Amino acid sequence: MGFKEIEPSYKPLHPRPVYLIVSGRMGERLNVMAASWVMPVSEEPLRIAIAVERDAYTFDLIEEYGEFTVNVVDHRLIEKVWRAGTMSGRGRDKIREIGLELEDPLKTRVPGVREALAIIECKVWSHVDSGEVRLYVADVLSVRVKPEYYNERYGWDIRKANILMHLTGRAFTVPGKLLVVRRQ
Ligand SMILES: Cc1cc2nc3c(=O)[nH]c(=O)nc-3n(C[C@H](O)[C@H](O)[C@H](O)COP(=O)(O)O)c2cc1C
Repeated sequence: MGFKEIEPSYKPLHPRPVYLIVSGRMGERLNVMAASWVMPVSEEPLRIAIAVERDAYTFDLIEEYGEFTVNVVDHRLIEKVWRAGTMSGRGRDKIREIGLELEDPLKTRVPGVREALAIIECKVWSHVDSGEVRLYVADVLSVRVKPEYYNERYGWDIRKANILMHLTGRAFTVPGKLLVVRRQ
Protein backbone atom coordinates (compact mmCIF):
# COMPACT_ATOMS: atom_id res chain seq x y z
CA MET A 1 0.00 0.00 0.00
CA GLY A 2 1.36 3.39 -0.98
CA PHE A 3 0.95 6.89 0.41
CA LYS A 4 -1.55 9.57 -0.51
CA GLU A 5 -0.50 13.18 -0.19
CA ILE A 6 -3.04 15.24 1.76
CA GLU A 7 -3.42 18.94 2.48
CA PRO A 8 -0.60 19.81 4.91
CA SER A 9 -2.08 19.28 8.37
CA TYR A 10 -1.02 18.75 11.97
CA LYS A 11 -3.60 15.96 12.29
CA PRO A 12 -1.19 13.09 11.48
CA LEU A 13 0.78 14.21 14.59
CA HIS A 14 -2.24 13.50 16.84
CA PRO A 15 -3.38 11.88 19.12
CA ARG A 16 -1.46 13.90 21.66
CA PRO A 17 -2.13 14.19 25.40
CA VAL A 18 -4.34 17.15 26.24
CA TYR A 19 -3.53 19.12 29.37
CA LEU A 20 -5.23 21.80 31.42
CA ILE A 21 -3.09 24.93 31.61
CA VAL A 22 -3.76 27.16 34.60
CA SER A 23 -2.38 30.71 34.31
CA GLY A 24 -2.54 33.93 36.30
CA ARG A 25 -1.81 34.47 39.98
CA MET A 26 -3.57 33.35 43.18
CA GLY A 27 -5.57 36.16 44.77
CA GLU A 28 -5.53 38.18 41.54
CA ARG A 29 -6.68 36.55 38.28
CA LEU A 30 -6.76 32.89 37.29
CA ASN A 31 -7.81 31.02 34.20
CA VAL A 32 -7.72 27.55 32.66
CA MET A 33 -7.47 26.38 29.05
CA ALA A 34 -6.99 23.07 27.25
CA ALA A 35 -3.74 22.52 25.35
CA SER A 36 -2.39 19.55 23.45
CA TRP A 37 0.57 21.31 21.82
CA VAL A 38 2.83 20.74 24.80
CA MET A 39 6.19 18.92 24.82
CA PRO A 40 9.35 18.32 26.87
CA VAL A 41 12.33 20.28 25.52
CA SER A 42 15.37 19.52 27.71
CA GLU A 43 16.17 17.50 30.83
CA GLU A 44 19.10 19.56 32.17
CA PRO A 45 17.62 21.95 32.95
CA LEU A 46 14.15 20.48 32.75
CA ARG A 47 12.14 22.64 30.37
CA ILE A 48 8.92 22.19 28.47
CA ALA A 49 7.26 24.10 25.64
CA ILE A 50 3.62 25.03 25.20
CA ALA A 51 2.01 26.68 22.18
CA VAL A 52 -0.53 29.36 23.13
CA GLU A 53 -2.64 31.32 20.66
CA ARG A 54 -2.13 35.03 21.09
CA ASP A 55 -5.94 35.57 21.06
CA ALA A 56 -6.35 33.42 24.18
CA TYR A 57 -6.88 35.05 27.57
CA THR A 58 -4.24 32.57 28.80
CA PHE A 59 -1.75 34.40 26.59
CA ASP A 60 -2.47 37.72 28.38
CA LEU A 61 -2.04 36.06 31.79
CA ILE A 62 1.21 34.30 30.90
CA GLU A 63 2.53 37.59 29.49
CA GLU A 64 1.60 39.35 32.74
CA TYR A 65 2.68 36.81 35.35
CA GLY A 66 5.14 34.56 33.50
CA GLU A 67 3.97 31.38 35.20
CA PHE A 68 1.55 28.52 34.51
CA THR A 69 0.81 24.96 35.54
CA VAL A 70 0.46 22.01 33.19
CA ASN A 71 -2.07 19.57 34.61
CA VAL A 72 -2.16 15.98 33.32
CA VAL A 73 -5.74 14.71 33.14
CA ASP A 74 -7.51 11.43 32.51
CA HIS A 75 -10.71 10.44 30.67
CA ARG A 76 -12.91 11.48 33.59
CA LEU A 77 -12.18 15.13 32.85
CA ILE A 78 -13.14 15.01 29.17
CA GLU A 79 -16.18 17.29 29.51
CA LYS A 80 -14.27 19.84 31.59
CA VAL A 81 -11.37 19.76 29.14
CA TRP A 82 -13.78 20.35 26.29
CA ARG A 83 -15.30 23.36 28.03
CA ALA A 84 -11.87 24.71 28.99
CA GLY A 85 -10.90 24.41 25.32
CA THR A 86 -13.99 25.89 23.71
CA MET A 87 -14.78 29.00 25.74
CA SER A 88 -12.61 31.91 26.76
CA GLY A 89 -12.10 32.97 30.36
CA ARG A 90 -11.89 36.59 29.31
CA GLY A 91 -14.44 38.52 31.40
CA ARG A 92 -15.72 35.41 33.23
CA ASP A 93 -14.62 32.97 35.90
CA LYS A 94 -14.10 29.91 33.69
CA ILE A 95 -12.57 27.82 36.48
CA ARG A 96 -15.64 28.26 38.67
CA GLU A 97 -18.10 27.82 35.78
CA ILE A 98 -16.47 24.54 34.79
CA GLY A 99 -16.31 23.46 38.42
CA LEU A 100 -12.60 22.74 38.82
CA GLU A 101 -11.02 22.54 42.28
CA LEU A 102 -7.62 24.14 42.71
CA GLU A 103 -4.54 22.91 44.57
CA ASP A 104 -2.11 25.40 46.10
CA PRO A 105 1.24 25.83 44.37
CA LEU A 106 4.59 24.83 45.88
CA LYS A 107 7.10 26.95 43.94
CA THR A 108 5.06 29.51 41.98
CA ARG A 109 1.96 31.63 42.52
CA VAL A 110 -0.29 29.74 40.13
CA PRO A 111 -2.28 26.75 41.42
CA GLY A 112 -2.86 23.34 39.90
CA VAL A 113 -6.03 21.33 39.24
CA ARG A 114 -6.93 19.06 42.16
CA GLU A 115 -8.69 16.47 39.93
CA ALA A 116 -5.57 16.11 37.75
CA LEU A 117 -3.13 13.19 37.89
CA ALA A 118 -0.11 15.50 37.88
CA ILE A 119 0.62 19.17 38.46
CA ILE A 120 3.69 20.70 36.83
CA GLU A 121 4.61 24.24 37.87
CA CYS A 122 6.41 26.25 35.22
CA LYS A 123 8.08 29.64 34.84
CA VAL A 124 8.61 31.13 31.38
CA TRP A 125 12.22 31.14 30.24
CA SER A 126 11.91 32.21 26.60
CA HIS A 127 9.51 32.30 23.69
CA VAL A 128 9.30 32.06 19.92
CA ASP A 129 6.47 33.51 17.83
CA SER A 130 5.11 31.40 15.00
CA GLY A 131 1.98 32.44 13.10
CA GLU A 132 -0.93 32.89 15.49
CA VAL A 133 0.94 31.21 18.34
CA ARG A 134 3.54 32.09 20.96
CA LEU A 135 5.61 29.04 21.86
CA TYR A 136 6.69 29.39 25.48
CA VAL A 137 9.72 27.49 26.69
CA ALA A 138 9.51 27.28 30.46
CA ASP A 139 11.55 26.01 33.39
CA VAL A 140 9.85 23.26 35.38
CA LEU A 141 9.98 24.27 39.05
CA SER A 142 7.92 21.48 40.60
CA VAL A 143 6.32 18.20 39.53
CA ARG A 144 3.67 16.43 41.61
CA VAL A 145 1.94 13.16 40.69
CA LYS A 146 -0.81 11.05 42.25
CA PRO A 147 1.41 8.10 43.26
CA GLU A 148 -1.30 5.44 42.94
CA TYR A 149 -1.21 6.03 39.14
CA TYR A 150 2.55 6.36 38.80
CA ASN A 151 5.67 4.24 39.21
CA GLU A 152 9.37 4.95 38.80
CA ARG A 153 9.78 2.21 36.20
CA TYR A 154 7.45 3.26 33.40
CA GLY A 155 5.97 6.52 34.64
CA TRP A 156 2.18 6.32 34.27
CA ASP A 157 0.69 2.93 35.02
CA ILE A 158 -1.54 2.88 31.97
CA ARG A 159 -3.69 0.09 33.44
CA LYS A 160 -4.89 2.71 35.93
CA ALA A 161 -4.13 6.08 34.35
CA ASN A 162 -6.33 6.69 31.31
CA ILE A 163 -4.37 9.73 30.17
CA LEU A 164 -6.68 11.78 27.95
CA MET A 165 -5.42 12.31 24.41
CA HIS A 166 -6.86 14.51 21.68
CA LEU A 167 -7.41 13.33 18.12
CA THR A 168 -9.11 16.31 16.46
CA GLY A 169 -12.35 18.20 16.96
CA ARG A 170 -14.57 16.43 19.50
CA ALA A 171 -12.64 13.15 19.25
CA PHE A 172 -10.38 11.92 22.05
CA THR A 173 -8.72 8.64 22.95
CA VAL A 174 -6.78 6.99 25.79
CA PRO A 175 -3.68 4.73 25.72
CA GLY A 176 -4.59 1.05 25.36
CA LYS A 177 -1.54 -1.22 25.59
CA LEU A 178 1.78 -1.36 27.38
CA LEU A 179 4.43 -2.49 24.88
CA VAL A 180 7.90 -3.13 26.34
CA VAL A 181 10.88 -3.73 24.02
CA ARG A 182 12.68 -7.02 24.78
CA ARG A 183 16.33 -6.84 25.87
CA GLN A 184 18.70 -8.20 23.17
C1 LIG B 1 -8.44 19.38 22.95
C2 LIG B 1 -8.01 20.81 22.79
C3 LIG B 1 -6.68 21.13 22.66
C4 LIG B 1 -6.27 22.46 22.53
N1 LIG B 1 -4.93 22.75 22.41
C5 LIG B 1 -4.55 24.05 22.33
C6 LIG B 1 -3.16 24.39 22.32
O1 LIG B 1 -2.28 23.53 22.39
N2 LIG B 1 -2.84 25.71 22.23
C7 LIG B 1 -3.79 26.71 22.16
O2 LIG B 1 -3.45 27.89 22.10
N3 LIG B 1 -5.10 26.40 22.21
C8 LIG B 1 -5.49 25.10 22.30
N4 LIG B 1 -6.82 24.80 22.36
C9 LIG B 1 -7.81 25.90 22.29
C10 LIG B 1 -7.92 26.69 23.61
O3 LIG B 1 -8.09 25.82 24.72
C11 LIG B 1 -9.10 27.65 23.47
O4 LIG B 1 -8.80 28.62 22.50
C12 LIG B 1 -9.53 28.30 24.78
O5 LIG B 1 -10.82 28.81 24.61
C13 LIG B 1 -8.61 29.42 25.24
O6 LIG B 1 -9.12 29.88 26.45
P1 LIG B 1 -8.77 31.27 27.14
O7 LIG B 1 -9.15 32.38 26.16
O8 LIG B 1 -9.63 31.27 28.36
O9 LIG B 1 -7.31 31.28 27.42
C14 LIG B 1 -7.24 23.49 22.50
C15 LIG B 1 -8.60 23.15 22.62
C16 LIG B 1 -8.98 21.83 22.78
C17 LIG B 1 -10.44 21.49 22.92
